Amino acid sequence: MPRPADTPDSVPPKTVLVTGGCGFIGSALVRLLIHHTPHRVVNLDALTYAGSPSNVEDVASDRRYAFVEGDVTDERMLDATFGTYGPDAVVHLAAETHVDRSIDGPAAFVRTNVLGTFELLEAARRHLRTRTPFERQAFRFVHVSTDEVFGSLGATGRFGRDTPYDPRSPYSASKAGSDHLARAAHHTFGLPVIVTNCSNNYGPYQFPEKLVPHTVLRALHGLELPVYGDGRNVRDWLHVDDHARGLTLALERGSPGSTYLFGADQERTTLDVVEAICGVLDEVRPAAAPHARLIAFVEDRPGHDFRYAIDADGARRELGWNRRTTFDEGIRETVAWYLEHLEWCERRAGARHGLERLGTLGT
Ligand SMILES: NC(=O)c1ccc[n+]([C@@H]2O[C@H](COP(=O)([O-])OP(=O)(O)OC[C@H]3O[C@@H](n4cnc5c(N)ncnc54)[C@H](O)[C@@H]3O)[C@@H](O)[C@H]2O)c1
Repeated sequence: MPRPADTPDSVPPKTVLVTGGCGFIGSALVRLLIHHTPHRVVNLDALTYAGSPSNVEDVASDRRYAFVEGDVTDERMLDATFGTYGPDAVVHLAAETHVDRSIDGPAAFVRTNVLGTFELLEAARRHLRTRTPFERQAFRFVHVSTDEVFGSLGATGRFGRDTPYDPRSPYSASKAGSDHLARAAHHTFGLPVIVTNCSNNYGPYQFPEKLVPHTVLRALHGLELPVYGDGRNVRDWLHVDDHARGLTLALERGSPGSTYLFGADQERTTLDVVEAICGVLDEVRPAAAPHARLIAFVEDRPGHDFRYAIDADGARRELGWNRRTTFDEGIRETVAWYLEHLEWCERRAGARHGLERLGTLGT
Protein backbone atom coordinates (compact mmCIF):
# COMPACT_ATOMS: atom_id res chain seq x y z
CA MET A 1 0.00 0.00 0.00
CA PRO A 2 1.25 3.48 -0.75
CA ARG A 3 2.19 5.49 2.28
CA PRO A 4 0.17 8.64 2.96
CA ALA A 5 1.59 11.88 1.63
CA ASP A 6 2.38 14.59 4.17
CA THR A 7 -0.58 16.43 2.70
CA PRO A 8 -2.44 18.82 4.96
CA ASP A 9 -6.25 18.49 4.78
CA SER A 10 -6.39 22.10 3.64
CA VAL A 11 -4.67 21.42 0.28
CA PRO A 12 -7.22 22.42 -2.39
CA PRO A 13 -8.00 19.59 -4.80
CA LYS A 14 -6.27 19.89 -8.16
CA THR A 15 -6.78 18.01 -11.40
CA VAL A 16 -3.38 16.45 -12.01
CA LEU A 17 -2.39 15.14 -15.43
CA VAL A 18 0.04 12.30 -14.71
CA THR A 19 1.90 10.99 -17.77
CA GLY A 20 3.28 7.45 -17.58
CA GLY A 21 0.87 6.62 -14.76
CA CYS A 22 0.67 2.97 -15.83
CA GLY A 23 4.40 2.45 -15.29
CA PHE A 24 6.33 1.67 -12.12
CA ILE A 25 6.74 5.07 -10.44
CA GLY A 26 3.75 6.66 -12.18
CA SER A 27 1.40 3.98 -10.84
CA ALA A 28 2.77 4.45 -7.30
CA LEU A 29 2.07 8.18 -7.64
CA VAL A 30 -1.44 7.60 -9.04
CA ARG A 31 -2.31 5.23 -6.19
CA LEU A 32 -0.94 7.69 -3.64
CA LEU A 33 -2.84 10.67 -5.11
CA ILE A 34 -6.15 8.78 -5.20
CA HIS A 35 -5.81 7.01 -1.84
CA HIS A 36 -4.23 9.78 0.20
CA THR A 37 -4.97 13.21 -1.30
CA PRO A 38 -8.11 15.01 -2.50
CA HIS A 39 -6.70 15.45 -6.03
CA ARG A 40 -8.27 14.20 -9.25
CA VAL A 41 -5.98 12.22 -11.58
CA VAL A 42 -5.95 12.02 -15.36
CA ASN A 43 -3.52 9.25 -16.26
CA LEU A 44 -2.13 9.62 -19.78
CA ASP A 45 -0.13 6.61 -20.93
CA ALA A 46 0.73 5.01 -24.27
CA LEU A 47 0.78 1.52 -22.71
CA THR A 48 4.16 0.52 -24.12
CA TYR A 49 5.63 -2.81 -23.00
CA ALA A 50 6.46 -1.06 -19.68
CA GLY A 51 2.96 0.19 -18.83
CA SER A 52 -0.18 -1.68 -17.88
CA PRO A 53 -3.63 -0.67 -16.59
CA SER A 54 -3.28 -3.60 -14.15
CA ASN A 55 -0.77 -1.45 -12.22
CA VAL A 56 -3.56 0.95 -11.24
CA GLU A 57 -6.54 -1.40 -11.19
CA ASP A 58 -7.30 -0.70 -7.52
CA VAL A 59 -8.05 2.97 -8.30
CA ALA A 60 -9.53 2.54 -11.80
CA SER A 61 -13.15 2.77 -10.65
CA ASP A 62 -12.60 5.82 -8.44
CA ARG A 63 -14.63 8.79 -9.66
CA ARG A 64 -11.56 11.03 -9.23
CA TYR A 65 -9.60 8.89 -11.73
CA ALA A 66 -9.65 8.99 -15.53
CA PHE A 67 -7.47 7.20 -18.07
CA VAL A 68 -6.44 8.42 -21.52
CA GLU A 69 -4.50 6.09 -23.79
CA GLY A 70 -2.18 8.30 -25.81
CA ASP A 71 1.38 9.08 -26.80
CA VAL A 72 3.10 12.20 -25.46
CA THR A 73 4.48 12.93 -28.93
CA ASP A 74 0.90 13.31 -30.27
CA GLU A 75 0.21 17.06 -30.33
CA ARG A 76 -3.49 16.81 -31.21
CA MET A 77 -4.22 14.21 -28.55
CA LEU A 78 -2.41 16.38 -25.98
CA ASP A 79 -4.47 19.45 -26.89
CA ALA A 80 -7.68 17.38 -26.69
CA THR A 81 -6.70 15.99 -23.28
CA PHE A 82 -5.85 19.42 -21.85
CA GLY A 83 -9.10 20.77 -23.35
CA THR A 84 -11.28 17.98 -21.94
CA TYR A 85 -9.87 17.80 -18.41
CA GLY A 86 -8.45 21.31 -17.86
CA PRO A 87 -5.64 20.13 -15.56
CA ASP A 88 -4.22 22.41 -12.84
CA ALA A 89 -0.90 20.56 -12.89
CA VAL A 90 1.16 18.04 -14.83
CA VAL A 91 3.49 15.43 -13.38
CA HIS A 92 5.47 14.11 -16.32
CA LEU A 93 6.85 10.60 -15.89
CA ALA A 94 6.20 9.03 -19.32
CA ALA A 95 9.53 7.91 -20.70
CA GLU A 96 11.58 5.09 -22.09
CA THR A 97 13.55 4.10 -19.00
CA HIS A 98 15.71 1.00 -19.40
CA VAL A 99 19.41 1.84 -19.90
CA ASP A 100 20.15 -1.54 -21.53
CA ARG A 101 17.36 -0.98 -24.09
CA SER A 102 18.77 2.48 -24.84
CA ILE A 103 22.00 0.78 -25.89
CA ASP A 104 20.15 -1.58 -28.26
CA GLY A 105 17.75 1.06 -29.64
CA PRO A 106 18.31 4.70 -28.68
CA ALA A 107 15.84 6.17 -31.22
CA ALA A 108 12.77 5.45 -29.08
CA PHE A 109 14.45 7.25 -26.17
CA VAL A 110 15.05 10.41 -28.19
CA ARG A 111 11.51 10.28 -29.55
CA THR A 112 9.64 9.82 -26.27
CA ASN A 113 11.98 11.47 -23.79
CA VAL A 114 13.12 14.48 -25.82
CA LEU A 115 10.42 15.04 -28.42
CA GLY A 116 7.59 13.86 -26.13
CA THR A 117 8.68 16.21 -23.34
CA PHE A 118 8.90 19.08 -25.81
CA GLU A 119 5.37 18.40 -27.11
CA LEU A 120 3.99 18.17 -23.58
CA LEU A 121 5.62 21.46 -22.55
CA GLU A 122 4.22 23.11 -25.67
CA ALA A 123 0.74 21.70 -25.01
CA ALA A 124 0.91 22.99 -21.41
CA ARG A 125 1.85 26.45 -22.74
CA ARG A 126 -1.07 26.47 -25.17
CA HIS A 127 -3.37 25.29 -22.36
CA LEU A 128 -2.25 28.11 -20.05
CA ARG A 129 -3.22 30.70 -22.66
CA THR A 130 -6.84 29.61 -22.10
CA ARG A 131 -6.65 29.97 -18.29
CA THR A 132 -7.25 32.93 -16.00
CA PRO A 133 -4.20 34.75 -14.52
CA PHE A 134 -4.96 33.11 -11.16
CA GLU A 135 -5.06 29.63 -12.72
CA ARG A 136 -1.84 30.34 -14.63
CA GLN A 137 -0.11 31.34 -11.43
CA ALA A 138 -1.26 28.23 -9.56
CA PHE A 139 -0.34 25.85 -12.41
CA ARG A 140 2.61 23.48 -11.94
CA PHE A 141 4.54 21.30 -14.39
CA VAL A 142 6.62 18.75 -12.47
CA HIS A 143 9.19 17.15 -14.75
CA VAL A 144 10.46 13.87 -13.30
CA SER A 145 14.08 13.01 -14.00
CA THR A 146 16.93 10.91 -12.78
CA ASP A 147 20.33 11.25 -11.08
CA GLU A 148 21.85 9.54 -14.13
CA VAL A 149 21.99 12.92 -15.93
CA PHE A 150 24.89 13.93 -13.65
CA GLY A 151 27.25 11.23 -14.91
CA SER A 152 29.41 9.10 -12.66
CA LEU A 153 31.01 9.72 -9.25
CA GLY A 154 34.22 8.29 -7.87
CA ALA A 155 34.39 6.74 -4.42
CA THR A 156 33.36 10.00 -2.68
CA GLY A 157 31.09 13.01 -3.20
CA ARG A 158 27.39 13.41 -3.95
CA PHE A 159 25.32 14.97 -6.73
CA GLY A 160 23.73 18.28 -5.76
CA ARG A 161 21.46 20.77 -7.47
CA ASP A 162 24.42 22.56 -9.01
CA THR A 163 26.26 19.50 -10.30
CA PRO A 164 26.90 20.00 -14.03
CA TYR A 165 25.21 17.55 -16.37
CA ASP A 166 27.39 14.79 -17.83
CA PRO A 167 25.06 12.09 -19.20
CA ARG A 168 26.80 9.02 -20.55
CA SER A 169 24.17 6.58 -21.84
CA PRO A 170 21.55 7.21 -24.53
CA TYR A 171 18.93 6.99 -21.73
CA SER A 172 20.57 9.59 -19.50
CA ALA A 173 21.38 11.82 -22.50
CA SER A 174 17.73 11.79 -23.56
CA LYS A 175 16.62 12.58 -19.99
CA ALA A 176 19.20 15.40 -19.80
CA GLY A 177 17.81 16.82 -23.05
CA SER A 178 14.29 16.73 -21.61
CA ASP A 179 15.45 18.43 -18.37
CA HIS A 180 17.05 21.25 -20.39
CA LEU A 181 13.87 21.73 -22.43
CA ALA A 182 11.79 21.82 -19.23
CA ARG A 183 14.04 24.43 -17.59
CA ALA A 184 14.16 26.43 -20.83
CA ALA A 185 10.34 26.54 -20.88
CA HIS A 186 10.49 28.10 -17.42
CA HIS A 187 13.22 30.62 -18.18
CA THR A 188 12.01 31.61 -21.63
CA PHE A 189 8.23 31.31 -21.42
CA GLY A 190 7.58 31.50 -17.67
CA LEU A 191 6.01 28.03 -17.57
CA PRO A 192 5.93 27.09 -13.84
CA VAL A 193 8.26 24.11 -14.18
CA ILE A 194 9.75 22.12 -11.30
CA VAL A 195 12.43 19.53 -12.09
CA THR A 196 13.10 16.54 -9.83
CA ASN A 197 16.08 14.19 -10.06
CA CYS A 198 15.83 10.93 -8.18
CA SER A 199 18.11 8.02 -7.43
CA ASN A 200 17.34 4.34 -8.22
CA ASN A 201 13.86 3.27 -7.19
CA TYR A 202 12.71 -0.17 -6.13
CA GLY A 203 9.37 -1.52 -4.97
CA PRO A 204 6.21 -3.22 -6.26
CA TYR A 205 4.95 -3.11 -9.88
CA GLN A 206 8.37 -2.64 -11.50
CA PHE A 207 8.64 -4.22 -14.93
CA PRO A 208 10.59 -7.48 -14.50
CA GLU A 209 13.53 -6.41 -16.69
CA LYS A 210 14.88 -4.17 -13.87
CA LEU A 211 17.42 -5.47 -11.33
CA VAL A 212 15.22 -6.23 -8.30
CA PRO A 213 12.27 -8.09 -9.91
CA HIS A 214 14.63 -9.60 -12.50
CA THR A 215 16.76 -11.10 -9.74
CA VAL A 216 13.78 -12.38 -7.74
CA LEU A 217 12.20 -14.05 -10.78
CA ARG A 218 15.39 -15.59 -12.12
CA ALA A 219 16.18 -16.97 -8.67
CA LEU A 220 12.74 -18.58 -8.51
CA HIS A 221 13.36 -20.21 -11.89
CA GLY A 222 16.74 -21.46 -10.61
CA LEU A 223 18.49 -19.38 -13.30
CA GLU A 224 21.87 -17.68 -12.97
CA LEU A 225 21.71 -14.24 -11.36
CA PRO A 226 23.82 -12.08 -13.68
CA VAL A 227 25.79 -9.31 -11.99
CA TYR A 228 27.45 -6.85 -14.37
CA GLY A 229 31.26 -6.51 -14.13
CA ASP A 230 32.54 -7.03 -10.60
CA GLY A 231 29.21 -6.00 -9.02
CA ARG A 232 30.80 -3.00 -7.29
CA ASN A 233 28.86 -0.25 -9.06
CA VAL A 234 27.07 1.78 -6.42
CA ARG A 235 23.53 3.19 -6.51
CA ASP A 236 21.45 4.95 -3.86
CA TRP A 237 18.25 2.88 -3.45
CA LEU A 238 14.98 4.68 -2.67
CA HIS A 239 11.62 3.00 -2.12
CA VAL A 240 9.17 4.01 -4.85
CA ASP A 241 6.54 5.16 -2.33
CA ASP A 242 9.06 7.58 -0.83
CA HIS A 243 9.68 8.96 -4.32
CA ALA A 244 5.93 9.27 -4.96
CA ARG A 245 5.56 11.24 -1.70
CA GLY A 246 8.39 13.52 -2.79
CA LEU A 247 6.69 14.18 -6.13
CA THR A 248 3.41 14.97 -4.36
CA LEU A 249 5.19 17.45 -2.11
CA ALA A 250 7.00 19.01 -5.09
CA LEU A 251 3.60 19.41 -6.75
CA GLU A 252 1.99 20.99 -3.69
CA ARG A 253 4.85 22.96 -2.13
CA GLY A 254 7.57 23.28 -4.78
CA SER A 255 8.64 26.65 -6.19
CA PRO A 256 8.51 27.14 -9.96
CA GLY A 257 12.01 27.16 -11.41
CA SER A 258 13.36 24.97 -8.60
CA THR A 259 15.03 21.58 -8.70
CA TYR A 260 14.54 18.95 -6.00
CA LEU A 261 16.79 15.92 -5.62
CA PHE A 262 15.44 12.80 -3.95
CA GLY A 263 17.80 10.18 -2.58
CA ALA A 264 17.77 7.71 0.29
CA ASP A 265 21.31 7.95 1.73
CA GLN A 266 21.37 4.19 1.26
CA GLU A 267 24.19 3.38 -1.08
CA ARG A 268 24.46 -0.26 -2.04
CA THR A 269 26.58 -2.05 -4.65
CA THR A 270 24.78 -4.17 -7.22
CA LEU A 271 26.22 -7.21 -5.47
CA ASP A 272 24.84 -5.99 -2.10
CA VAL A 273 21.36 -5.73 -3.64
CA VAL A 274 21.48 -9.17 -5.25
CA GLU A 275 22.83 -10.72 -2.04
CA ALA A 276 20.13 -8.98 0.03
CA ILE A 277 17.46 -10.45 -2.26
CA CYS A 278 19.07 -13.90 -1.99
CA GLY A 279 19.08 -13.55 1.82
CA VAL A 280 15.35 -12.84 1.91
CA LEU A 281 14.66 -15.73 -0.50
CA ASP A 282 16.73 -18.08 1.68
CA GLU A 283 14.45 -17.26 4.62
CA VAL A 284 11.16 -17.68 2.77
CA ARG A 285 12.23 -20.54 0.45
CA PRO A 286 14.84 -22.42 2.50
CA ALA A 287 14.59 -25.54 0.34
CA ALA A 288 16.39 -23.71 -2.50
CA ALA A 289 18.98 -21.99 -0.25
CA PRO A 290 21.58 -20.68 -0.64
CA HIS A 291 20.27 -18.62 -3.56
CA ALA A 292 23.58 -16.74 -3.73
CA ARG A 293 25.09 -19.85 -5.38
CA LEU A 294 23.25 -18.68 -8.55
CA ILE A 295 25.21 -15.38 -8.74
CA ALA A 296 27.29 -15.15 -11.93
CA PHE A 297 29.53 -12.22 -12.86
CA VAL A 298 28.93 -11.30 -16.51
CA GLU A 299 30.45 -8.85 -18.97
CA ASP A 300 29.90 -5.28 -17.78
CA ARG A 301 27.34 -2.92 -19.35
CA PRO A 302 29.07 -0.68 -21.94
CA GLY A 303 29.73 2.72 -20.35
CA HIS A 304 28.49 1.53 -16.94
CA ASP A 305 28.63 4.50 -14.51
CA PHE A 306 30.52 3.61 -11.33
CA ARG A 307 28.66 5.42 -8.57
CA TYR A 308 25.65 7.68 -8.01
CA ALA A 309 24.81 9.37 -4.71
CA ILE A 310 22.41 12.22 -3.97
CA ASP A 311 22.42 15.18 -1.64
CA ALA A 312 18.69 15.50 -0.83
CA ASP A 313 19.05 18.31 1.75
CA GLY A 314 17.17 20.81 -0.45
CA ALA A 315 14.11 18.54 -0.69
CA ARG A 316 14.20 17.91 3.05
CA ARG A 317 14.51 21.58 3.95
CA GLU A 318 12.19 23.13 1.38
CA LEU A 319 9.55 20.43 0.92
CA GLY A 320 9.65 18.81 4.37
CA TRP A 321 10.36 15.49 2.63
CA ASN A 322 12.13 12.56 4.23
CA ARG A 323 12.44 8.98 3.13
CA ARG A 324 10.58 6.65 5.44
CA THR A 325 11.62 3.19 4.31
CA THR A 326 15.05 1.74 5.03
CA PHE A 327 16.63 -0.46 2.39
CA ASP A 328 16.55 -3.53 4.62
CA GLU A 329 12.82 -3.32 5.35
CA GLY A 330 11.97 -2.11 1.84
CA ILE A 331 13.78 -4.92 0.05
CA ARG A 332 12.17 -7.50 2.33
CA GLU A 333 8.70 -6.10 1.62
CA THR A 334 9.47 -5.85 -2.10
CA VAL A 335 10.70 -9.45 -2.46
CA ALA A 336 7.58 -10.59 -0.56
CA TRP A 337 5.39 -8.52 -2.93
CA TYR A 338 6.86 -10.19 -6.05
CA LEU A 339 6.46 -13.63 -4.49
CA GLU A 340 2.80 -12.86 -3.79
CA HIS A 341 2.27 -11.44 -7.29
CA LEU A 342 3.83 -14.06 -9.55
CA GLU A 343 0.71 -14.04 -11.67
CA TRP A 344 1.16 -10.26 -12.20
CA CYS A 345 4.80 -10.86 -13.18
CA GLU A 346 3.88 -13.52 -15.71
CA ARG A 347 1.05 -11.44 -17.14
CA ARG A 348 3.40 -8.47 -17.47
CA ALA A 349 6.48 -10.15 -18.82
CA GLY A 350 5.50 -13.67 -19.87
CA ALA A 351 6.97 -16.66 -18.09
CA ARG A 352 10.49 -16.03 -19.43
CA HIS A 353 10.37 -12.85 -21.50
CA GLY A 354 12.11 -9.96 -19.75
CA LEU A 355 14.54 -12.30 -18.03
CA GLU A 356 17.09 -12.24 -20.86
CA ARG A 357 20.16 -10.01 -21.19
CA LEU A 358 19.87 -6.76 -23.21
CA GLY A 359 22.33 -3.97 -24.09
CA THR A 360 25.55 -5.87 -24.81
CA LEU A 361 26.32 -4.19 -28.18
CA GLY A 362 25.82 -7.64 -29.71
CA THR A 363 29.02 -9.08 -28.27
N1 LIG B 1 12.98 3.77 -12.18
C1 LIG B 1 13.87 4.56 -11.59
O1 LIG B 1 14.68 4.10 -10.77
C2 LIG B 1 13.87 6.04 -11.87
C3 LIG B 1 14.70 6.86 -11.09
C4 LIG B 1 14.66 8.25 -11.31
C5 LIG B 1 13.81 8.78 -12.29
N2 LIG B 1 13.04 7.94 -13.04
C6 LIG B 1 12.15 8.56 -14.05
O2 LIG B 1 10.83 8.35 -13.60
C7 LIG B 1 9.95 8.21 -14.71
C8 LIG B 1 9.17 6.91 -14.58
O3 LIG B 1 10.09 5.82 -14.53
P1 LIG B 1 9.56 4.32 -14.36
O4 LIG B 1 10.69 3.52 -13.82
O5 LIG B 1 8.25 4.33 -13.67
O6 LIG B 1 9.33 3.93 -15.90
P2 LIG B 1 8.52 2.72 -16.54
O7 LIG B 1 9.34 2.28 -17.71
O8 LIG B 1 8.14 1.71 -15.52
O9 LIG B 1 7.16 3.41 -17.04
C9 LIG B 1 7.13 4.34 -18.09
C10 LIG B 1 5.68 4.58 -18.45
O10 LIG B 1 5.64 5.56 -19.51
C11 LIG B 1 4.76 5.10 -20.51
N3 LIG B 1 5.23 5.63 -21.81
C12 LIG B 1 6.38 5.33 -22.46
N4 LIG B 1 6.45 6.01 -23.61
C13 LIG B 1 5.33 6.79 -23.68
C14 LIG B 1 4.85 7.73 -24.60
N5 LIG B 1 5.52 8.00 -25.74
N6 LIG B 1 3.68 8.38 -24.34
C15 LIG B 1 2.98 8.10 -23.19
N7 LIG B 1 3.38 7.18 -22.29
C16 LIG B 1 4.55 6.55 -22.52
C17 LIG B 1 4.86 3.58 -20.46
O11 LIG B 1 3.71 2.95 -21.06
C18 LIG B 1 4.96 3.34 -18.96
O12 LIG B 1 3.68 3.24 -18.38
C19 LIG B 1 10.83 8.28 -15.95
O13 LIG B 1 10.77 9.57 -16.48
C20 LIG B 1 12.22 7.97 -15.44
O14 LIG B 1 13.21 8.58 -16.22
C21 LIG B 1 13.04 6.58 -12.85
